[in-house]
Amino acid sequence: MRFPNRKLRTAVDGEDSGVSAHFKNPFVHELRFTPLQKLKIAVMTMTLFPVRLLFAAFMMLLAWPFAFMATVGRSEDAVEPLSWWRWLVDLVLKAIMRAMWFSGGFHWVRVKGRPALPSEAPILTMAPHSSYFDAIPVTMTMASIVMKTESKDIPVWGTLIKFIRPVFVSRSDQDSRRKTVEEIKRRACSDGEWPQIMIFPEGTCTNRSCLIAFKPGAFIPGVPVQPVLLRYPNEMDTISWTWQGPGAFKILWLTLCQLHNSIEIEYLPTYTPSEEEKKDPALFASNVRHIMAKALGLPIIDYSFEDCQLAMAKGPLRLPRHTCLLEFARLVRRLGLKTGVTDEVLHEEAFKVRKLCGSRLDVEGFSQYLNQPLTEAVQDIFSLFEEHGKMDVREYVIALSVVCRPFRYLETIKLAFRMFEAQEDGAVVEDELAVVLKTALGIGDFVVCDLFRAIDCQDKGKITFDDFCRFLENCPDFVEQYHCLHEPIPQPSRESTSPSSTNGFCADFSPRDPSTRSAAHSKKQD
Ligand SMILES: *[C@@H]1O[C@H](CO)[C@@H](O)[C@H](O)[C@H]1NC(C)=O
Repeated sequence: MRFPNRKLRTAVDGEDSGVSAHFKNPFVHELRFTPLQKLKIAVMTMTLFPVRLLFAAFMMLLAWPFAFMATVGRSEDAVEPLSWWRWLVDLVLKAIMRAMWFSGGFHWVRVKGRPALPSEAPILTMAPHSSYFDAIPVTMTMASIVMKTESKDIPVWGTLIKFIRPVFVSRSDQDSRRKTVEEIKRRACSDGEWPQIMIFPEGTCTNRSCLIAFKPGAFIPGVPVQPVLLRYPNEMDTISWTWQGPGAFKILWLTLCQLHNSIEIEYLPTYTPSEEEKKDPALFASNVRHIMAKALGLPIIDYSFEDCQLAMAKGPLRLPRHTCLLEFARLVRRLGLKTGVTDEVLHEEAFKVRKLCGSRLDVEGFSQYLNQPLTEAVQDIFSLFEEHGKMDVREYVIALSVVCRPFRYLETIKLAFRMFEAQEDGAVVEDELAVVLKTALGIGDFVVCDLFRAIDCQDKGKITFDDFCRFLENCPDFVEQYHCLHEPIPQPSRESTSPSSTNGFCADFSPRDPSTRSAAHSKKQD
């Protein structure tokens, strides 16, 4: 039996291979405490934490009647002139919210730069987005944000949200994206009549180690935008709320246990798009992102919200935490190899690859196969799979299938079985199963050995896809168990949730309850 030590795999096992060394996953947040820090937290948990929590909750409840008063009977699609009592309610709410953040340890907020007027910059683009604490600048400016329609039905919070006149995106409505963009456009072109719209163009939370790809939503209207930077210059990062890391309550708890939490908001000069940028929102977004990254001193990484989904894809077969598939996803997107890949295309691809009969390609052969010039990106993809200068294209097709349909892992396995079967009986031998499971799921060699024996209980020496499915039905947790062998780190509960895909430019700080998996689940899956 031969188990090559390829990069796509070794990285999966957490070793530092060439690729994983520069591979970055900004959706991970790992917190480690020294004994002293633990002691501090313990003391704070018994003393300051309950007081702060109560006070913050009280402030939120106190804000509710004011927000309710202001929103009741208000028109959804027009702004009425600012009457003195509305002005007063606005002021009171800002004060209450400020008190709430104060009780959370955000004693002062450093603001740099000059906020533009709504007529100067109708849209604020804020980055990096890392937590629900990013709501601080929202409550300070009372700017509108883009939110999921469902959030307005949440008690108390929903009313507070409605107060800032969010642009709602609905998931049930097919046309929702277009309508959202139109609504943003309409408000942006109202000449300062509507409040500014604050958009987190990254669309999801990262650990602030880089700027991920910007969604075009904020840039489609082609109006001037003001970039706003967020920093949390604290010794320990208790703020980041990413998909792999501490959940919402833990973040709240740890943050409230810090004596003081620093936050810094920096308003950069308003960016007015050129004619070219107005026509090309992607270019506009990319230029703004460069300016922001430079001001933050952070690198740019072309991961997007979808890659985050990919990393978090759930089900009995789950992608491992350090998977290089993210890197793979980034590369295929850059080459445009991901666009238009449907189930049929994948099947055709599999058929084509089958005809190669397992012969291995070198890098020239691979670039020919892709119909791409031999660029650096092609070479990078090749190096993810290569072993002794050659690669098996079937592995590329498996990875492509995972990347294009992260939630339908079984389809991928089925496709893989079809590519690897020796005869038309849909059966694969142990070595082949090892390749399939490693490429698709990052399962280690010695695990496959046990697994194969468990599935092939009649000792036929090969198993079919149906055998595999049957096994999975009886033992749905098997990947989790086997991953645990590699990764002693407990998997956080938030891994079970998956981000919604409709609204990439949505602010991501509506409350979810991490303690109840199903609640968090239904919230994000809605
Ligand atoms: C944040 O993401 C980077 C990758 O971009 C990673 O190297 C780093 O360890 C992450 N930070 C934490 C605290 O997990």
